[in-house]
Amino acid sequence: MTIHIGAEPGQIAETVLMPGDPLRAEWAANTFLDDAKCVNRVRGMLGFTGTYKGNPVTIHGSGMGMPSLSIYANELIRDYGAKTLIRIGSCGGMQDMVGIRDVILAMTASTLSTPSRGIFRELNFAPCADYGLLRSAADAASARGITHHVGGIYSSDVFYDERPDLNEQMMRHGILGVEMEAAELYILAARYGVRALAVLTVSDHLVTHEALPSEDRERSFGEMVEIALEAAFP
Ligand code: HPA
Repeated sequence: MTIHIGAEPGQIAETVLMPGDPLRAEWAANTFLDDAKCVNRVRGMLGFTGTYKGNPVTIHGSGMGMPSLSIYANELIRDYGAKTLIRIGSCGGMQDMVGIRDVILAMTASTLSTPSRGIFRELNFAPCADYGLLRSAADAASARGITHHVGGIYSSDVFYDERPDLNEQMMRHGILGVEMEAAELYILAARYGVRALAVLTVSDHLVTHEALPSEDRERSFGEMVEIALEAAFP
C-alpha cells in the first residue's frame, strides 16, 4: 500500500490505463476487462485490475490536472512497477481540421508548468509519447475507421483560463488540443524509463465552440479504451 493507493503488492498490472474520472475507470474495467476486481478506493480514486485477451491490465483514475495525476503515476510506477501508462481522456479541439469526437494521439505535450518545473527551471524539456505505443495506437484507430490526428497537444494548468492569449499562441503553432494531464505523465515516464501515451477525444472545441453531446461521450470513451488496449497489446 502507498499513501494514495490501497492495492496490495502484485495487485497492479504493468499496463495501466488512466482516465481522469474514477467512475470511468470502473465502467471501462467492467466493460472491457475479464475478471475485473477493485484494487483501490482510497479517496474514491477507484482502480481495477483484470485481464484483456489474457494480459493483466489495471485501469486507475488519475483525477484532474497534473498535480493529481503526478501522485498516482508516481506511486504506480515507483511502488507498483507500472511499465506502460496510457492516459485516456478528453480535450478541447484547437484546430479547424480537428472535429468534435475525433481522437488525438498526443505525440508531444507542451506546457507552461508542471509539478516537475522545479527540476527543469529555465530548461524547456520536451515531453513526448513512446513511439511504439503511438504507432500501435494509430494503427488501431485506422483499423477501426476512427478519425484521428497525431501531433502536439497543450497541457494547461487551468480549465477556466484567464489568459486566452496562451491558447491562441498554441493554436498558432499548430497544437491540436488542450487538456490538463499528459505533459506530467510524459515527463514521469521519461524520468523512470517507462512508456506513456495520451489518447484523447475532442469533447469541446475552442474554435467552433461545439461540445460533444452527453449521449456520445460513452461511445467515444469506449473507442479510446479499445485504442489504448490495442496499443498496449498489438
Ligand atoms: N481545456 C482544458 N482541458 C480540457 C478542455 C479544455 O477546453 N476540454 C477537455 N479538457
